[in-house]
Amino acid sequence: MIEKGGYIRDILASTAGAPATAHGWVKTRRDSKGVHFIQLSDGSCFADLQVVIDAGSIPEDILKHVTTGACVRISGDLVESPAAGQNVELRAREIELFGPADSQTYPLQKKGHTMEFLRDIAHLRSRSNTFGAVFRVRNALAYAIHSFFKERGFLYVHTPIITASDCEGAGAMFGVTTLDMQNLPRVKEGERKGQVDYTEDFFGKPAFLTVSGQLNAEIFALAFSNVYTFGPTFRAENSNTPRHLAEFWMIEPEMAFCDLQGDMKLAEAFLKYVIAKVMDECSADLDFFNKRIDNTVLETLENVVNNDFVHVTYTEAVKILEKSGQTWEFPVHFGADLQSEHERYLTEQTFKRPVIVTDYPKEIKAFYMRANDDGKTVRAMDVLAPRIGEIIGGSQREERYDVLLDKIRQQDLNEEAYWWYLELRKYGSAPHAGFGLGFERLMLYLTGMKNIRDVIPFPRTPGSAEF
Ligand code: 4AD
Ligand code: MG
Repeated sequence: MIEKGGYIRDILASTAGAPATAHGWVKTRRDSKGVHFIQLSDGSCFADLQVVIDAGSIPEDILKHVTTGACVRISGDLVESPAAGQNVELRAREIELFGPADSQTYPLQKKGHTMEFLRDIAHLRSRSNTFGAVFRVRNALAYAIHSFFKERGFLYVHTPIITASDCEGAGAMFGVTTLDMQNLPRVKEGERKGQVDYTEDFFGKPAFLTVSGQLNAEIFALAFSNVYTFGPTFRAENSNTPRHLAEFWMIEPEMAFCDLQGDMKLAEAFLKYVIAKVMDECSADLDFFNKRIDNTVLETLENVVNNDFVHVTYTEAVKILEKSGQTWEFPVHFGADLQSEHERYLTEQTFKRPVIVTDYPKEIKAFYMRANDDGKTVRAMDVLAPRIGEIIGGSQREERYDVLLDKIRQQDLNEEAYWWYLELRKYGSAPHAGFGLGFERLMLYLTGMKNIRDVIPFPRTPGSAEF
């Protein structure tokens, strides 16, 4: 049996005088006269444990392998540390080598690697300071999200990953099939003659990876009142941007007896709660981001927690943008979707805080959003954040059967595929609303990291599914 010592997090919080055993990976080694210094990390906290090895106290055939990247167990005594920033250090008595790391070839040797290079070594980057901090924040954020909903009595529902319906109606879906691509079965006769015969496929019809759990969450909201999903979602859009992933995680609350006002209220309370929680739990990690990655991170987060979000309608937002005197890459006019440059202008120049834009033109939003009486706009809301742009997309849902059916037909969607969604409006329909938060978009916000590929453990993007 391997005798487990404590986490380095706990060892660093203990007082001098006690024996301790630490396990971890060597970050750096420094040799000076009569003594060797090692920085040891086990990922449990931002700080490393400083280990001091007196010359001659550890056999040379072991010591020579205690180099950057090596995995070791070190037992010794905690002593008061003369170094700044730590109370204790470990004076080594015994070192057991689990796995050496050849110092000639270990890829994570030098400081100052580029993010692109680190992405290529995603099997090792999690041992670096930056990625250690990223993934501890990610963990704290996930827990904060669950506790927010738990405190408010929301039911956590697992929506399916494989689905036959396109929630966003945008067609950016990955197919799921077991058909032989080299030898596809074809329809033998009739109108669809020659087309792929999906009745022979695994599910007997075309199936996809979900782009959103919303439609299923609505089923549950109309039975459990307040629910949320938190799971992976997939989008086959060919967007090679620092804000898009092909596989990302989404949090989707859905509330019955709720309108757009209630939806916006929840979104704001939610963002404030989870940001405050992570600031509280990961202060050392956030200090690092503020110092090394983006020196506005802490200020921005405090600004979000302490200020009310601004509300503007899409129509007002377009007026502001038209009057701004800016030259846009994508022209603004009523009916055009807001692009990242517009979203950033509103949050960074006009209002200098998160902005909720409501009531978008129906043509640029999904079929399920509730129609406004003006016949032109729908009860949509997007939460836009400085630096990131859209972080949340949500809406009040169309709960009226006839209006929804019209919408599905107008948008040329397959009516049969949505039979159950329509039926929810036939039996005990209720006003309801919800939103979707892109987990990695919020991670970008919390960490100040520039590229969404660097806040998910193993990014999937066009042309890349390594690791
Ligand atoms: O605005 P979206 O498309 O909304 C929906 O999917 C709704 N069904 C949500 C709902 O009302 N329940 O996506 C929601 C959020 C976006 O605001 C954005 O933060 C994130 O998901 N998102 C992405 N994040 C990373 N990579 C992508 N390709 C993303 N696409 C959307
Ligand atoms: Mg959206």
